Amino acid sequence: MIKARALNNDDSYTDKVQEMDILLFERPWSNKTWETVLNDQNYKIFILLDGDKLIGFSVFFIPDQEQQAHLLKIYISSEYRSKNYSKLLLFPDLALKSIYLEVDSKNLRARSFYKKNGLIILGEVKKFYSDGSDAIKMIKYF
Ligand SMILES: CC(C)(COP(=O)(O)OP(=O)(O)OC[C@H]1O[C@@H](n2cnc3c(N)ncnc32)[C@H](O)[C@@H]1OP(=O)(O)O)[C@@H](O)C(=O)NCCC(=O)NCCS
Repeated sequence: MIKARALNNDDSYTDKVQEMDILLFERPWSNKTWETVLNDQNYKIFILLDGDKLIGFSVFFIPDQEQQAHLLKIYISSEYRSKNYSKLLLFPDLALKSIYLEVDSKNLRARSFYKKNGLIILGEVKKFYSDGSDAIKMIKYF
């Protein structure tokens, strides 16, 4: 059974999430960034499990008292793509007013995924990423 849940403090999946990021995500975070994210309550991490196997994760920055979420990362293993499971990571079980994100303008798959899930384009930021790639900013209001 496939289900999403929040990553808890001292969760047994914490190392696996970091491993998945470092091995498979195009722009992995450093250990230092992960340490910050894991220790700051303003960051919320969600994991997607097939039984007890980790198949994806998402990371949001949600400043205290706000219901505006900044999606920082979302990843699902390739064999689970195109099956509508990614939505479980994009829309976690939280009361939110909006979800905001940046996506590499060349990442057409992710852009289509966000668009079909109701995010609209706010604009483009040239050279947003450290390798000089441009980003598209997108948002969804609930
Ligand atoms: C981004 C991600 C979470 C989306 O999940 P997914 O399961 O692949 O998404 P879906 O298949 O539901 O939606 C993607 C859509 O893009 C379409 N698509 C695929 N390749 C495409 C391309 N090159 N150009 C345009 N659209 C494309 C798919 O057909 C699908 O649309 P459809 O459902 O109408 O057929 C997943 O692809 C992923 O983990 N990618 C690697 C990490 C990543 O890029 N994260 C985003 C960083 S911002």
